[in-house]
Amino acid sequence: MPSIIHLEEKDSTNTYLKDLLLRQEVEEGTIVIADFQTGGKGQRGNSWESNKGENLLFSIVLYPNTIKANEQFIISQVVSLAIADFLKKFVDDITIKWPNDIYWQEKKICGILIENSLTENNINESVIGIGVNINQTIFFSDAPNPVSLKQITGEEYHLKTLLEEIRDTILLYYKQAVSENRAAIISHYKASLFRKDGYHLYNDGEKDFSARIKDIEPNGLLVLETDEGIERKFAFKEIKYKI
Ligand code: BTN
Repeated sequence: MPSIIHLEEKDSTNTYLKDLLLRQEVEEGTIVIADFQTGGKGQRGNSWESNKGENLLFSIVLYPNTIKANEQFIISQVVSLAIADFLKKFVDDITIKWPNDIYWQEKKICGILIENSLTENNINESVIGIGVNINQTIFFSDAPNPVSLKQITGEEYHLKTLLEEIRDTILLYYKQAVSENRAAIISHYKASLFRKDGYHLYNDGEKDFSARIKDIEPNGLLVLETDEGIERKFAFKEIKYKI
């Protein structure tokens, strides 16, 4: 099995792993995990909050050279599904909030930050940063709706055991994606979506509107149909869910 590099404290496991890749060869599937991050990075330029030693904060490297640059959304789907499936062993009501947040009911239990480096047409390396809230029970930042596994079940979890299970699940789904069996992953992803049915409120940066999820395009665009029957497509930064 690829190695797990354990660090007590770092700015960000994604940054550490990307620096390591510049300096030496790193086996696919290698993980860097930290007890604490001083500059944990989130999506949209946000930071990622976690108490020391209470949650899973790690990054894993993949080399999906056979996946085309314009198909890179499959990596988001693979990782989201793997984590969602893993969490479903412990709790119900786990969904994937497009593109790759993992939710329990209306709250966020896991965030994923994927940093791909591309060659002309393909993905060269993919550094996938994952923060799963496990044992933390009080959150201080202004993140609107965090939740941890312990808050849901009342139980305390052994982080190392969980990490190995998540890694194995990610590699399993990844293998499936690489071996071209992508249709199953894509339909499983769509079936697991947060708010997949019915009309809900969204904001496009100008106004709130009510819409339903119609589809997710292979390139990752979210396709909505407004309650007036108009189809609208959005990239990640162009829309917010009203939670
Ligand atoms: C999000 O905003 O939802 C993405 C959060 C990703 C956080 C993880 S924690 C481990 C890895 N290292 C980072 O700096 N960020 C990711």
